[in-house]
Amino acid sequence: MFSTAITRVRWRAGGAALALVIGSWTMVQTQQPQSNVDQVRRQRFIRHGSTDDEGPDTAGNRGRVDEAPAAFDSLTNGYSEQGPAFESLNEGNVVKLRSFNDNRFVFEEVEGMADGLGPTYNAQSCRECHQNIVTGGASQVTEHRTGHVLNGEFFESPGGSLIQSRSTYPEMAERVLDQDDIRTFRISTNTLGAGYIEAISNSTLLGIRDRQPESMRGTALLVSVFEAESLSRVGRFGWKSQHASLQSFAADAYLNEMGVTSPLLPAENTSSGRDVSGYDPVADPEDDGDDVMAFANFMRSTKAPPRGPITPDVRSGETAFTKAGCAVCHVASITTAAQGTLINGGTLVVPKALASKAIHPYSDFLLHDIGTGDGIPVLPTAEHASTATQIRTAPLWGLRTRNRLMHDGLSFTKAEAIRRHGGQASGSKQLFDGLPDAQKTALMAFLDSL
Ligand code: HEC
Ligand code: HEC
Repeated sequence: MFSTAITRVRWRAGGAALALVIGSWTMVQTQQPQSNVDQVRRQRFIRHGSTDDEGPDTAGNRGRVDEAPAAFDSLTNGYSEQGPAFESLNEGNVVKLRSFNDNRFVFEEVEGMADGLGPTYNAQSCRECHQNIVTGGASQVTEHRTGHVLNGEFFESPGGSLIQSRSTYPEMAERVLDQDDIRTFRISTNTLGAGYIEAISNSTLLGIRDRQPESMRGTALLVSVFEAESLSRVGRFGWKSQHASLQSFAADAYLNEMGVTSPLLPAENTSSGRDVSGYDPVADPEDDGDDVMAFANFMRSTKAPPRGPITPDVRSGETAFTKAGCAVCHVASITTAAQGTLINGGTLVVPKALASKAIHPYSDFLLHDIGTGDGIPVLPTAEHASTATQIRTAPLWGLRTRNRLMHDGLSFTKAEAIRRHGGQASGSKQLFDGLPDAQKTALMAFLDSL
């Protein structure tokens, strides 16, 4: 298991001689990733301006609220129309942005070099990593991030902390440097129901934070909404809540998972800081923006992950879950913003299908330090340094469909995952440990119903 604590100890034990050697390496190494291309791309992630409330805090909303539809049925939640039968679609007749089924086809489409795949990439299709029960779900696929700390400062690996695991040419393969000894896996997360998460107002997430007891209070990370000229919004997507908009996340994923550039991120990734221009035959941006929009609209149209059977055991298990303080972070119910609310820096209007919906994500979408931080900050800047030890509260909806847990996928049972809760969750873990066995068993039954 990769633990930053262990890495840091090893680092200090390395002593001055090693530090010197590594110091000169670092000189070379930090020149490379600061290449123009990497720097220009980084600008997109720097947020600007103030953050809108996006309407009132609706967490405790008792007005007209409907339950969000929840099912693993590959049917639209109403955000876009269902469209022609999925089985009737092919490369020749698919119409991007026309419907749920068309956009699902694009999300599932396998890209090749002629579409802009690579030179460095992790997989060929969004579905490769987001499919479990149905397209859009989480999966066991992990990606790899590395870097190192020098004099208390985090340095990403050359070209960025994400080490793409595949390349379209052998000489473009990214390799991990020995001295980049902070290493983590991050497992693929669920995108089903993501449109509802996007439709939560900033003020609602900030309200949840403000009501948390101080010792457990989450961090709301302000991030850049690419399509709003990098205006800032409260982050909520990804293990570090590093994005607030699905269009921005989709552009980021298309570039970083598949090597496909688009208008929001038009510059290709380097290979460990090395120029890739001789290896990338398609002119940038490789996608005109329609694929990115189709991905976003597909995710916005998905239903939330549904619950399993709710037995009396499950119900008393949820009481124990609340009693043990788990629900302070794993928030049971959140209501999305009202219809017509402007979100994403004013670039998106919350439509009827996503508005005033009660969802049960069992997350606050905030960052917490529960002692599992992977050592990699959201961005390698002083402002983001504290995010190295923080992870977003894992949404527990859909938990029963997964058997590799936590950000690194290295906990294989619920009990193991709970045992790893320390830091801001240590009080809650103590309460859990003190529960009578019958309540612990019920709590586990509750988790199995999610
Ligand atoms: C190689 C596997 C892989 C591929 C391919 C991939 N993803 Fe992901 N995806 C991940 C991983 C891993 C995460 C979590 C990463 C993190 O937060 O550091 C993630 C997270 C996400 C999230 C955030 C969901 C949440 O709130 O946690 C969205 C949205 C997303 N991906 C969309 C896409 C889209 C759209 C595509 C296709 C362009 C795509 N992904 C392709 C692995 C993949
Ligand atoms: C202070 C906030 C906080 C509290 C309290 C808390 N958790 Fe968590 N929980 C998290 C965070 C953050 C993660 C993700 C950690 C990681 O991946 O490294 C997580 C992850 C999990 C996971 C793994 C989910 C997955 O998809 O991998 C389970 C299961 C879980 N928590 C159950 C519980 C239970 C049960 C309790 C109460 C005993 C609890 N949590 C209390 C913040 C909290």
